[in-house]
Amino acid sequence: MAYKIAIIVGSLRKDSLNRKVARSICGLRDDNLDCSMIEIGDLPLYNQDYDALPEQPAPYTRFRDQVRSADGVLFCSPEYNRGIPGVLKNAIDVGSRPYGQSVFDRKPAAIVTASPGSIGGFGSNHQIRQACVFLNMPVMQQPEAYLGHVTDDSFDESGCLKEGPLKELVTKLAHAFHDWVDMIHRSRAALAEDSAHAAQAKEHA
Ligand SMILES: Cc1cc2nc3c(=O)[nH]c(=O)nc-3n(C[C@H](O)[C@H](O)[C@H](O)COP(=O)(O)O)c2cc1C
Repeated sequence: MAYKIAIIVGSLRKDSLNRKVARSICGLRDDNLDCSMIEIGDLPLYNQDYDALPEQPAPYTRFRDQVRSADGVLFCSPEYNRGIPGVLKNAIDVGSRPYGQSVFDRKPAAIVTASPGSIGGFGSNHQIRQACVFLNMPVMQQPEAYLGHVTDDSFDESGCLKEGPLKELVTKLAHAFHDWVDMIHRSRAALAEDSAHAAQAKEHA
């Protein structure tokens, strides 16, 4: 079954390498993922005072609704100064509040970081992972995706990854993410069914 995946790209740059990686994942046809990129560039800087307002800023509502309706979240991000780009951290903060209403809670997640540098955004990748722990998102462990030495030349004219080892790794990750999301959703459904049966049996005992 195809799962709905919200891809959050941590770069606003028009020619972002990470956006192109995300586009390539959206373009895969045999991964059983229905991916779409969720925009974060219009989210006002998070301010906790907003939480108390009866009306939330419209981009907050739009972003939260889009994440809420997804079966899983894929972060695709650069590394800025060895950490999460501010724009992505802002989106994470927006989605996580008001307290107790986080749209990220229990959503399966995966993380891809791409950089022209050699360590492929390792620092950013693990800072996103750290936030996911607090957000209660089960994050796929393997394959890890620190995509190093990514350049414009890694992509074809349509802005998708050229055939080669990089595309192979990203394709492997997409398939593994499908299996991860599938395992989590099916286990939860089975547990819910078990609980319902147990409750019924108790009622009739
Ligand atoms: C403010 C800033 C900080 C950066 N810091 C890092 C870094 O810590 N590690 C790294 O590998 N690349 C770093 N870079 C280079 C980015 O990896 C590179 O610009 C990349 O193309 C950005 O991702 P994007 O193409 O998806 O926008 C930095 C770039 C900027 C603009």
